[in-house]
Amino acid sequence: MKGGFFITFEGPDGSGKTTLINNLRPFITDELKKDLIITREPGGVKISEAIREILLDKRFSEMGSRTEALLFAAARAQHLDEVIKPALDAGKIVFCDRFVDSSVVYQGIGRKLGVQEIIDINRFATTGINPDMTILLDLPADLGLARIKKHRSEKSDRIDQDQLSFHEQVRRAYLDLAAKNPKRIKIIDGRQSPEKITKNALQLIQEALKGRI
Ligand code: TYD
Repeated sequence: MKGGFFITFEGPDGSGKTTLINNLRPFITDELKKDLIITREPGGVKISEAIREILLDKRFSEMGSRTEALLFAAARAQHLDEVIKPALDAGKIVFCDRFVDSSVVYQGIGRKLGVQEIIDINRFATTGINPDMTILLDLPADLGLARIKKHRSEKSDRIDQDQLSFHEQVRRAYLDLAAKNPKRIKIIDGRQSPEKITKNALQLIQEALKGRI
């Protein structure tokens, strides 16, 4: 395979991305017999995990939106250099839990910094590397937040804590983004059973991989 294949997973908080990625793993490695790297943002490498701690720390409630956007972009730049680029160069499939689209919707729309501004700083951070495919798990914001509360009430983070209206805006922004990029971003209804979601995603991935590897 030349140049690898880069798939990102997006969706509101609590949409089930992590479960989906874990469910997809055996299909990619055992059935398709492909080399797979699974990683996440913000994080994935030491420096970016340290930036993640700062970003999600509830003690830093005074953090400005531009600081937040730049920290996400900084974490991304390091993650790209250390993990994503080398894996793609080696011809591997990369699954990344969140990427630039998260910054576009959370910081660009949610924090009202502007979509173009976020795209600009991220073009610098990523040197223009874009996902080949993005799976968007769509879910009403209240459902996502309720799931988070149920599963990890003890550790809601600084961003989970934002108002429901913020998360509703994030959901709408994701759907707008998908409407503008229909070739890259594929929407899956996150209210379906995990089995159905996995099946849908697998079909989409196999379709996208056809002829590529
Ligand atoms: P995380 O615990 O990874 O959430 P999830 O499991 O829902 O992916 O926390 C990441 C939080 O950071 C999440 O609320 C989304 C937010 N985020 C941004 O605001 N901008 C970004 O660029 C990224 C990558 C994440």
